[in-house]
Amino acid sequence: MTTTTPPTSDSTKGYVPGLAGIPAAISSISYIDGNLGILEYRGYRIETLAAKSNFEEVCWLLMKGHMPTRMQLESFRAHLAKHRQLPERMVKILEAMPGAGHPMAALQAGLAALGMFNQKPDFRHPDEVEEAWVRILAATPVIIATFERMRTGKDLVAPDPELNTAANFLWMITGQKPDEFAAHVMDVALILHADHEMNASTFAARVVGATEADPYTVCSSAIGALTGPLHGGANEEVLNQLREIPGPEHVVTWLDAKLAAKAKIMGFGHRVYKVKDPRSSILQGLATQLFAKLGSTPLYDTAVELEKEMAKRVGTKGIAPNVDFYSGIVYSKLGIQTDLFTPLFGISRVAGYLAHLREQMQDNKLFRPGQIYVGAHELEYPELRTRG
Ligand code: CMC
Repeated sequence: MTTTTPPTSDSTKGYVPGLAGIPAAISSISYIDGNLGILEYRGYRIETLAAKSNFEEVCWLLMKGHMPTRMQLESFRAHLAKHRQLPERMVKILEAMPGAGHPMAALQAGLAALGMFNQKPDFRHPDEVEEAWVRILAATPVIIATFERMRTGKDLVAPDPELNTAANFLWMITGQKPDEFAAHVMDVALILHADHEMNASTFAARVVGATEADPYTVCSSAIGALTGPLHGGANEEVLNQLREIPGPEHVVTWLDAKLAAKAKIMGFGHRVYKVKDPRSSILQGLATQLFAKLGSTPLYDTAVELEKEMAKRVGTKGIAPNVDFYSGIVYSKLGIQTDLFTPLFGISRVAGYLAHLREQMQDNKLFRPGQIYVGAHELEYPELRTRG
């Protein structure tokens, strides 16, 4: 007997595609008002943190819920610097990876492998959790920098304990000490990407964490979710897209053809923001400051024109630039390869993943949502010989 129930609007009642708007956690880590374009970390406006804070302080704030004292910040920085040295066999693992592969795959695999060199922390012991937090934050940029140097056939650069996360990353990928302004721009970019409430990869982090997996596995899984072009991978796609447009005067023709073909314009739109993402405005400001020092780029003029024309066409639908729209322009001006943009997002976002993991573990419940089954029932098994 075959009984198949075709889906009806009644049978799928309650199903929310993409879980849009469904709360998956009770959290006090970050807050978004998508209509007003507000983002806060632990109650502090992102504009304030970008202007006054630094990435290490923000990592502390996200994890602990308060600003560190001077002593706490210094000791945290020293602790991070201590863990920047990767185990020798970890370097060999990175060396064995195909250089033509994407650095996000190297980061995902690298974080999973890092867990094999460290013990799984016991979530009942805050010291052990804290140790894993520091090790992951310290190692993430080093994994990317090591992979980058190896795939380009360059000698490895030893981490500099005197530098902060942003400056040390620039140092380790370029082999040159960054000037103060470049290091500042990178630091602000890291602050902006550190957390964003229940985005796809943070949700992935919570789902994997809720199984009581270790934090390395959690971050590795979340980095996998960050890879896709609808999420973190969009920053790389934005630059490819801008390069495809021969210049600002071609934006209208290019855009109309894309929209007519129902293509998504990378760097625009957001599940929560219905106005311009505040991080996009900050990154645009950083881009113009960089241009004042280093000269502009034609891609920026194309981007500004694209923003203007998108506003005319789809602005009323609440589609505006998101964080990924101007970040690539900033990174490329700093001399960073396009396929390192999403890993850069990852360096910062692990801070958010780990804060969410800790919050999840304080009152954990395994994620196991339901589904609405619309498939067949009670089918007769067809013997192999009878199958055409
Ligand atoms: N270009 C053109 N149309 C768009 C875009 C876009 N970028 N984004 C949304 N729309 C339209 C979409 O076609 C749909 O139109 P209609 O109702 O006529 O069918 C409507 O807006 C709703 O779109 P949706 O895809 O159902 O909305 P969503 O909330 O699922 O999508 C999004 C959010 C980010 C996946 C989507 O805006 C998108 O694909 N953007 C491009 C990729 C991108 O920039 N991603 C980075 C997101 S922010 C950083 C991060 O989270 O990592």
